[in-house]
Parts: sequence; C-alpha cells; structure tokens
Amino acid sequence: MALVTLEKIMKKRAFAPVLHSIVAALESSVVIEDVEGKLLLATYGAEKGDRYPVSVSGEVVGWVSGSEKAASIAMLLSCQAESEIEKRTLASEMLTKYKEITLLYDIVEKISSCLDTKEVARLVIEEARRVIKLSSVSVLLLNKETETLELIGEFGHDQEQPTVSWGVGIAGSVLSSGRAEIVNDVHSDPRFVEGVVTICSLMCAPLKAKDTVVGVIKLGSDQPVTYTAEDLKLFTTLASLAAVAIENAGLYEQLKEAFYTTVYTLAETIEKRDPYTGNHTKRVMEYSLAIGKNLGLSEQDMARLQLGAVLHDIGKIGVRDSVLLKESSLNDEEFEQIKKHAVYGEEIISRIASLQSAIPGVKHHHEKFNGRGYPDGLKGEEIDITARIIAVADSFDAMTTNRPYRQGLSLDEAFEELRKYSGSQFDPEIVDAFFAADVMEAFFAANSRQKIIL
Ligand SMILES: [Fe+2]
Repeated sequence: MALVTLEKIMKKRAFAPVLHSIVAALESSVVIEDVEGKLLLATYGAEKGDRYPVSVSGEVVGWVSGSEKAASIAMLLSCQAESEIEKRTLASEMLTKYKEITLLYDIVEKISSCLDTKEVARLVIEEARRVIKLSSVSVLLLNKETETLELIGEFGHDQEQPTVSWGVGIAGSVLSSGRAEIVNDVHSDPRFVEGVVTICSLMCAPLKAKDTVVGVIKLGSDQPVTYTAEDLKLFTTLASLAAVAIENAGLYEQLKEAFYTTVYTLAETIEKRDPYTGNHTKRVMEYSLAIGKNLGLSEQDMARLQLGAVLHDIGKIGVRDSVLLKESSLNDEEFEQIKKHAVYGEEIISRIASLQSAIPGVKHHHEKFNGRGYPDGLKGEEIDITARIIAVADSFDAMTTNRPYRQGLSLDEAFEELRKYSGSQFDPEIVDAFFAADVMEAFFAANSRQKIIL
C-alpha cells in the first residue's frame, strides 16, 4: 500500500488551488478517481474517456480520465505524489537523526559524571531500552586474569551461558573480533549455545576504550525481529560512550582504592606505636559503619564517617610516648596532653584537601552529648553526626579490649555502660542505633581471630 493516498495529495493546502486552476484552464473534461474508484474531482459535463494512471514509486494510487489533456493532469499528480513521498522520507530520516542525537546527548549528560561502573551499566541499559526494541540487555566486562566476561548489569536474561569466555559463543566472538554484530536468527548461528538462550535475535557490540576491548554489551529480543544497520549504528555508538564512561569509572575506583590504602596506612602509623590497641582503628570503622547504615546515612555521610573513623586518633602521633604508652593512671598534666590529640588530628588532616570531610569526626569524637567533652565542649546536635557515632564505636571498642593494665569489660558490662551514659556522654539516638545495628556481626567478625571477651 502506498504511503500516500491520492485524496490526501489533492487536499494539500499548497497544491489544491493550483490543481483546480490548471483543470479550469484546460477547459476540458477531467475525472479524477482514487485507486478504489472513489470520485475525487470531476469537471462540469465531464465524460470518462481514456484512463491515465497516477503512480508513486511504480504503484498506482489513482486514475485520471477524460480528454487527451487528462494525461497531463495524471503526470502532474504523479510528480506531486513522488515529491510528497520524498518529503516524508526526508522527515522520517531527520526524525531518526534527531532521536539519535537526543539519545547521545542524554546518555553523555547522564554517564559523564558517573563514577561507578555498575551505575554506568544501569544507565546504558535504561537508554538502550528506551530506543531499541528488546527484551533483554546485558553489560559484560572482561576479567583480564581469567579471560572471561563478568556480568555487571542486566535487564531480562539473555545469557548464552553462565560464564562467557574469550572467543566462545556470540558475545565471546565479538569480544575477540572487536566488531559489532547483528544476529537476527540466533538459533541458526553456529556459535549459538544450545538450550540455554531464550532470545531469537540479538545485537552485540564491543566496549572499546582506546582501541582496547574491555567487554561487550549485548541486547536481544525473545520474539523474532530484524535489527537493521541503523539499529546497530545507534547501538555501537551507545557502546562506545559506555566504554569510555566505564573506563573512567574504573580509573576513579582505582584512585579511590589507592586513596583509602594511603589513609589506612596513615592511621596504622599511630597503631604501630601502641601495639596493644591492635586493629582498634579497623574495629571502630566497622562499628561506626554498622551504626551509620542503621541510621540510614547518605552515601556522602557514610564516606566521611568511614574516613573520620579511620583517622579519629591520628593526632596521637603528636603525643609523647611516655604519656601515650603509660600503663598506670595518668596525672592531670598527662591527661591534658592526651586530650590534645583531637586538635592535633584536625591540624594534620586539615592540610590535606581530600580529608577535609573527616575533620568533624576526628576533632569531635571526644565531645559529650551533655557538653562536657573536649576540645570545644559542644553538645547535642552541635556535634557532627559522624563524631557522635565514632564516640559510641570508640568507647565500645575501648571497653571491650584487654589492656596490659586492665581486663576488658564483658559484652553485657559494655552494653550496660552504653545504656548508662546514653543521653549524657552519648547521643541516645546513636546508642539505640548501636543496639539495633549489626554491630555484633562486626564485633564477632573483628574478634574472630582474637580472644572474645564474654
Ligand atoms: Fe581519641
């Protein structure tokens, strides 16, 4: 069926008056009918004579009959119809291009600031679902050590096999060739792994960053469809953008890991001076994170809580050994020395831009909820939430750890102490969160290789 009807062409606002003027000027008999015989125009007193076809791309869409001049009208209508088809094709191509550009703009805007590989995969899957007909998508990253593809995101399920290896199956083949492919009949493809896949048609594109294939993205339909070269072009562009974003996110994750390793190393320097505190920093971090998770802290607050917990006692590096390592009770002057570690800690980390968010946790982890702590005597919510959490975690660990000069409290005794000082030393909301959180899980994990005090 033609994309246009003769009736619609004749009714075009710019063309209808021209047609009527020409027919009137011919002063001749003309009858115009569509292909099904519906009368569209007839001059007064017209009689049907010879019939001339109105054709579009070789298909007849109507007839003009009458005198010999009807042939010219048929030709005019055919030209107008062809022109209409060309306009529509052009408009359709422009619309496709517009959709493509909009997609690319959207995806670039969304993923360029994304620094998590799984989140990049999720966004790419979301965009692919929006613009391409599919029932499943999967994003697979290459594990260079095992030479297998690992799933980092999927919608639906289109895995050919649980693990995709280099050169094996369609995805493995795209991984090794580095070329995107359309497989419109998956089941007749020799690479198809029988009995596992449920899709009928698929497209698979390599995730290429700087000419290196780092994975593949694959989409498929569980109904037979014919993916076109245009679909593949769009999909390949999407894969290229995803590859760059995934590479950036991977580099950021490596950088983040290096940053945390440096921070832990920094924190360990203080622990090395006081071997009896062994792993205190790690335990305080784990207890703090368990409490923070229970309180539903934001990702940003959890990150600064983690940093603050790891670095909370970093200022002890500025305290003399004779005081820091003293096994008997401290006198007033020595206690004043110890108290300074909170401010020393702030001074040390304030020089490092990436550690600024940890300052409240480091400086104020000895503040008390009732305002009787140090160094600033802050109270209630004047004390940053990370510092209030670290205060509980730090005290719990200090209470339950054996020291050379005293035995640690039992768990029940430590719980009792936390309850006793809830509302005075500790924020009661944090103490409640401590008991509701999986702190005990963290406690037993942290103490699994140590003597558990019960
Ligand atoms: Fe401290």
